[in-house]
Amino acid sequence: MWVESVRLRNFRNYFAEDVSFSPHINLIVGSNGEGKSNLLESLFLLATTKSYRQAHEKDMVFIDRDNFYVSGEAVLQGNIKHTLEISYSQKQNKKQAKVSGVPVVRLADFIGILNVVCFSPDDLNIIKGAPGLRRRFLDILLSQIDRVYLSVLQQYGRVLRQRNECLKAVQRGRMRPTEIWPWTEQLATLACQVTERRFKAVNELTTSYADISKGINQGKENLSLKYMSSLVKNSHLYTPIEFTESLQRRQTEEVARGITTIGPHRDDLFFLINGLSAADYASQGQQRTAVLSLKLAELEYMYKVTGDYPILLLDDVFSELDQKRRQLLLATLSDRVQALITGTETLEWPWSGDRDHCNIINIRQGKVI
Ligand SMILES: Nc1ncnc2c1ncn2[C@@H]1O[C@H](COP(=O)(O)OP(=O)(O)OP(=O)(O)O)[C@@H](O)[C@H]1O
Ligand SMILES: [Mg+2]
Repeated sequence: MWVESVRLRNFRNYFAEDVSFSPHINLIVGSNGEGKSNLLESLFLLATTKSYRQAHEKDMVFIDRDNFYVSGEAVLQGNIKHTLEISYSQKQNKKQAKVSGVPVVRLADFIGILNVVCFSPDDLNIIKGAPGLRRRFLDILLSQIDRVYLSVLQQYGRVLRQRNECLKAVQRGRMRPTEIWPWTEQLATLACQVTERRFKAVNELTTSYADISKGINQGKENLSLKYMSSLVKNSHLYTPIEFTESLQRRQTEEVARGITTIGPHRDDLFFLINGLSAADYASQGQQRTAVLSLKLAELEYMYKVTGDYPILLLDDVFSELDQKRRQLLLATLSDRVQALITGTETLEWPWSGDRDHCNIINIRQGKVI
């Protein structure tokens, strides 16, 4: 899949701009603060309805305006074209989306039409940062390729909030402990579905992750991934009944703390180097290899599941990678991948392929020049 063009209206520092892309490599060039990342953000928005920088919608509206509008002409598998539109009004605090002119009933229906893999310097924190970053990685990946996952995850979030409210109510003596049980059962069913899907994804991801990282570090270390879950005992995934029992055994403790202490909202993805925790042992260079391999493995996994390559958004990562890793990254991008790569200097790009293949977009103050 690829995006032919985007139309930006009052989006970040783009007042009114239309930008066209090539189906292969697009280099987005400009000095600091000109709007390169904003352009990538608009594509991430068209794929996920959200900002990859975790910004709120109101921050994406051009200063002093009320609403933004972003649309993209997407070419999907089988040469099917769709116009994807997303708009947000600050006054109404409402986000709306359309697919080829037809409004979507739920924003969730918009997610996954266009798929992206995004790699920015912030992702380098994924290994040593908080577990939430690693769960977010899995959630963004799975939400794009598995509609059921997104719906189950959203339900899980809602039931979790309700159950936590109940735990607090029991703590304050406003509810009987048995009144939590129906929430516990619902939570357990959803928790098993979320966990099962995350497990499957990590298992499949880890094979190409290991292969890709071997190519980068010349087989020096073995890299692997492991999903650590509170729903697993002796490699056996709990059934909803078993997880319900596990939660019930903890109920007294959870009432005292007022929160649900186990479940997919607390699980983690472990990065291993030769079987040891990368969070504790990895050097800077090893972390870079691990994250780059993860992103490329994500690309391959999405291709395997959907039969189409997602769009690769590389924000400023070239400045973070050494020459060898830069070359490897470009070499692994097959002709079927559309890539949008930002940077401040064209010269720093080790572009060895056909330059005609490569579309250079110069950005200054929210305009293509
Ligand atoms: N809501 C907004 N309205 C207007 N301008 C905005 C808004 N949000 C951000 N900006 C402006 O956008 C610019 C930053 O854009 P962006 O992050 O895309 O820069 P960049 O080209 O990626 O820079 P760098 O090379 O430093 O990463 C800043 O000048 C900022 O003031
Ligand atoms: Mg930037």
